[in-house]
Amino acid sequence: MHVLMLNGSPHPKGCTYTALSCVAEQLGKHGVDSEIVQLGTKPVSGCLACGKCFESGYCVFKDDGVNAFIDKLKAADGLVVGSPTYYAAPNGALCAFLDRVFFMKSTPYAYKPACAVVSCRRGGASANFDRLNKYFTINRMPVVSSQYWNSVHGYTPDDVMKDAEGLQTMRTLADNMAWLLRCIEAGASQGILPPVQEKWIGTNFIR
Ligand SMILES: Cc1cc2nc3c(=O)[nH]c(=O)nc-3n(C[C@H](O)[C@H](O)[C@H](O)COP(=O)(O)O)c2cc1C
Repeated sequence: MHVLMLNGSPHPKGCTYTALSCVAEQLGKHGVDSEIVQLGTKPVSGCLACGKCFESGYCVFKDDGVNAFIDKLKAADGLVVGSPTYYAAPNGALCAFLDRVFFMKSTPYAYKPACAVVSCRRGGASANFDRLNKYFTINRMPVVSSQYWNSVHGYTPDDVMKDAEGLQTMRTLADNMAWLLRCIEAGASQGILPPVQEKWIGTNFIR
């Protein structure tokens, strides 16, 4: 069992990383391994809506880690996306990255459990969390929940380590992710497979 994690923050060891590390540690206690991919500080292009990915399954921009992440996600059993809160939303680079990871190439991600983890100094965490969940719920990915909306509070990693309820929320999230992965594995061994998908009906609100 392997869970892929993405830290959208430019800070490789900041508050978001601290939350993701807590999830990773707890997953490890269940025998689930994980990897944290760092978005880092390099510029990330936005989606051009060129639609080339519909044919190739990959983005036309090849140099900022999106395509490598697509391959990692295809191979993973679950996904955790971590984000700092910037003006009550995910940080811009992360949105640019995820728009391109998901747009028109998300079929292989269907039925992989996913969740978002957010950090904030003071406010806007739940709006950020809601925005990130949109990527999963439009792509047939079961959303893993916890005991609260998945947020930690702090301006520094030390602050986050003092957020006892936030850290407990991270551990519960990991427990639930591990449990769901095991349930899916057990179901598959009994012949319970993902549903057959209907042919997509796209109406664009017109007809
Ligand atoms: C551009 C910018 C906007 C921010 N907006 C918010 C905000 O809306 N609400 C908030 O509580 N913190 C906000 N913050 C603070 C960060 O979300 C917070 O410190 C976060 O935990 C940092 O995570 P990191 O260490 O992983 O980067 C903002 C920070 C930046 C740089």
